[in-house]
Amino acid sequence: MIDVQEIRKDFPILERQVNGKQLIYLDNAATSQKPRCVIQALQSYYEGYNANIHRGIHTLSEEATSAYEGVREKVREFIDAPESRCVIFTRNATEALNLIAYSWGRTNILPGDEIVLSAMEHHSNLVPWQLLAAERGAKLVYLELTPDGLIDLEQAAAVIGPRTKVVAVTMMSNVLGTITPVRELGNLAHARGALLIVDGAQGVPHLKTSVSELGCDFLVFSCHKMLGPTGVGILWGRAELLEAMPPFLSGGDMISAVWRDRVRFNELPYKFEAGTPNIADVIATGSAIDYLQKLGMDNIRAHEIDLTGYALGRLSEIPDATVYGPGDATCRGGVISFNFADVHPHDIGQILNDAGIAIRAGHHCCQPLMRDLKVTGTARASFYIYNTKEEIDLFLDALQEADRVMGHVACR
Ligand code: ALA
Repeated sequence: MIDVQEIRKDFPILERQVNGKQLIYLDNAATSQKPRCVIQALQSYYEGYNANIHRGIHTLSEEATSAYEGVREKVREFIDAPESRCVIFTRNATEALNLIAYSWGRTNILPGDEIVLSAMEHHSNLVPWQLLAAERGAKLVYLELTPDGLIDLEQAAAVIGPRTKVVAVTMMSNVLGTITPVRELGNLAHARGALLIVDGAQGVPHLKTSVSELGCDFLVFSCHKMLGPTGVGILWGRAELLEAMPPFLSGGDMISAVWRDRVRFNELPYKFEAGTPNIADVIATGSAIDYLQKLGMDNIRAHEIDLTGYALGRLSEIPDATVYGPGDATCRGGVISFNFADVHPHDIGQILNDAGIAIRAGHHCCQPLMRDLKVTGTARASFYIYNTKEEIDLFLDALQEADRVMGHVACR
């Protein structure tokens, strides 16, 4: 297990107060907090070796290039990928998914093809496919959920069929916490000659990840949810797919030669990294990965199962609380969406904020799932390495107070 009290000392923001109370940060599915080493990596770059990469022959540029490319190798190791040239830096997971939908999708999707998504996708793994399907005359097909919020594998086996060209699923739901059976879906997709794309925005920060064990063709994720700065996303893809895909953005760095009337594209990964990239934030992402690796992803997972099981148990004692997603903490992540009978989630969020507790409330960029759940939104608490059971107790005490206050309002 990890030493949470030691970890907390590395996160300066956890010392701050909100509304006169000690901050309790339970909005980690939206973005995680940053340890001091990540903040210092940004400062060291700007103070010590700020320069553009791949272009200069001077010392600063060489240092910046080496640090930036070193992080590509760290990412490769973190996701257990065979080659670092298949790790592409983007702005975020959304951009990485758009890159696939535009570059691979517009080359390969034909009229009548089927694109299979799950019913719990974030808009970022849904809207790019809707636009692609509309443009290409393809059809969207959905994997449905069982009543306890798991992917229904029987239905999946029935709908992943001869017309399926791609299956694109989240690794872990940002609403239900459900962990997707990626390997099984990959087997179903590959048996039909289709690709499997995994949106790891919620999964990769919390679960040990190996692209070969997942058996996926593309994996995307966002580094700001795993202790890194905002502005860095990762696209990993199988080499032969990336080699065959046309560029997404064009301009500097993605070329190897340009003539007045034509261009020869650069090799991987540069073909997909047009323009000056987010150098400082990529370098600081390396510090975030080092931090997670030192803790050990299996230890992080064990800590989150412990917290989630505890929170689910205590939530079940609160009358009128509806919790969405699987009841078993071992088949879900530390994301808990809930509602009270007639209290608006924003009111819950407001009352908790008064107590210094940060949660998220709303549709969580999953409006189709909200419709399936027959709600307009939920309140959501999400945990990470620095959260404690004491914080969960304070959160649930404040929630019971909210229940009491809002319940009284509702009765008047
Ligand atoms: N996708 C992020 C969330 O679920 C922003 O909060």
